[in-house]
Amino acid sequence: MMITAMSRVVGWGHQLLGEVLRAGDFAIDLTAGNGYDTLMLARAVGENGSVLAFDLQSQAIEKSANRLQQEAVAVHLVDGPGLPLPSSGVSLVSASHAELDAWCDLAPRAIIANLGYLPGGDKGLITKPESTLVALQTGCDILMPGGRIAIVVYSGHPGGRDEAQAVDHFFANLNEREFEVLRLEVANRPQAPFLLIAGKIE
Ligand SMILES: C[S@@+](CC[C@H](N)C(=O)[O-])C[C@H]1O[C@@H](n2cnc3c(N)ncnc32)[C@H](O)[C@@H]1O
Repeated sequence: MMITAMSRVVGWGHQLLGEVLRAGDFAIDLTAGNGYDTLMLARAVGENGSVLAFDLQSQAIEKSANRLQQEAVAVHLVDGPGLPLPSSGVSLVSASHAELDAWCDLAPRAIIANLGYLPGGDKGLITKPESTLVALQTGCDILMPGGRIAIVVYSGHPGGRDEAQAVDHFFANLNEREFEVLRLEVANRPQAPFLLIAGKIE
């Protein structure tokens, strides 16, 4: 099957976050994985901006660190919550995104998450609705007015459907006076990943 850029919803997520991100901003990646989304955020905020990126798997932290360093992005492996985060570059955190509130006292202008399993890694280690929903709620609370949160959701793997329903429900119930919410999907491919993006009204 031919998949063109039009139906790659990850790219639309990058574009819609890139529209609001400025040099010097702070942004968050809830699922660093292979580092592609973190790299996009790091490029958008520039060398004076900062990114906080989470992943549970050491393999993902290593892959992300390598990718970022190859692209000359400053990387910090951060040990524990409660300390001030580096004011520039990417801080990689080996922890669950459910702990976001303990790690972050800055308001991000953009938050991204690409759910599911690590491509090329353990397909049994997936994001779970319980922790995803905690991270999304914290993310929506701390997001800067005018900022956006973009989530790519997969329903095709075991466990994916339950998480997709939970995340859909979460976004559909965001207060319309506080958030505008967009859902982008490939209408003729029901198993394809879809994008949910919420913009916090100023
Ligand atoms: C689809 S991958 C992310 C892809 C990544 N954004 C990229 O650009 O390559 C999903 C990642 O979520 C991670 N993950 C699963 N549960 C998590 C949790 N509770 N907190 C943080 N990361 C988690 C997995 O380890 C996996 O690396």
